[in-house]
Amino acid sequence: MKDGNTPTNSMDVRTALATRRSVRDFTADALPDGLADTILADALNAPSWGNVQPYRVAVASGDVAKAISADYHALFSAGMAFRRASPLRKLRMFLSGVRGPDGDHTTIMTYPPELDARYKDTGKGLYGVLGIGRDDKAARVQQTARNFDFFGAPTVLFVFASDALGAYGPLDAGAFIQSVALAAHARGVGTCAQAALATWASPVRSRFDVPDGYKLICGMAMGYASDAPVNSFAPARRSVENVKLPLKD
Ligand SMILES: Cc1cc2nc3c(=O)[nH]c(=O)nc-3n(C[C@H](O)[C@H](O)[C@H](O)COP(=O)(O)O)c2cc1C
Repeated sequence: MKDGNTPTNSMDVRTALATRRSVRDFTADALPDGLADTILADALNAPSWGNVQPYRVAVASGDVAKAISADYHALFSAGMAFRRASPLRKLRMFLSGVRGPDGDHTTIMTYPPELDARYKDTGKGLYGVLGIGRDDKAARVQQTARNFDFFGAPTVLFVFASDALGAYGPLDAGAFIQSVALAAHARGVGTCAQAALATWASPVRSRFDVPDGYKLICGMAMGYASDAPVNSFAPARRSVENVKLPLKD
């Protein structure tokens, strides 16, 4: 089961689409050598604008992943402390070098009501499965912090998209990311896309040689799902009718 390189590990597309879910608790088992590359090779079949494949990916595991994780935790803790600080303390922190997120894209935004409702519903469902109460801010922060140890995954990907194609670089990166998720799933490997990791870019940029014009768009934890209840979370989907645009009168 753990050897995802065997050709018997496959799944039809409809089953893969219907059964892939984000994994937010991984076992400590490392991926077999070469499996992450095999999954990436599958995913490189994704379509892209003019077939330019405008993305690069940093793959981290072992000590490199641990060091990146430590940097994210430090940045997240400093960010949380900054948010809680008094104005005077904020000034002192700023003068001592504490800065806001250094991501290539912003991950902190307010949603229009239509999106906000679905975002909140999904969050409510996730925290429900985790047994975290509405007002338990500490537990919510702790769960957010789990993003920064990649939910225990042994491997983490950081996807960079070219900014030379306007919206189409990130769009192509999205098709690639979903292809990685499905290719991994077909081989028994779990993933979780993590925009939280794009909040800061310095932990990855300081360790990988990123070409000019590429921006960190999303991280992705990769490994084997544990049997923790959080991995059974399957948030609701919109109906086709709800997504389809009506004709004008
Ligand atoms: C671009 C993108 C960014 C995401 N970022 C995060 C994240 O930072 N942390 C997290 O726990 N889940 C993240 N997710 C997972 C979504 O919450 C998840 O895909 C959604 O709730 C649907 O659930 P499913 O993937 O289990 O079907 C992200 C998904 C996408 C596509």
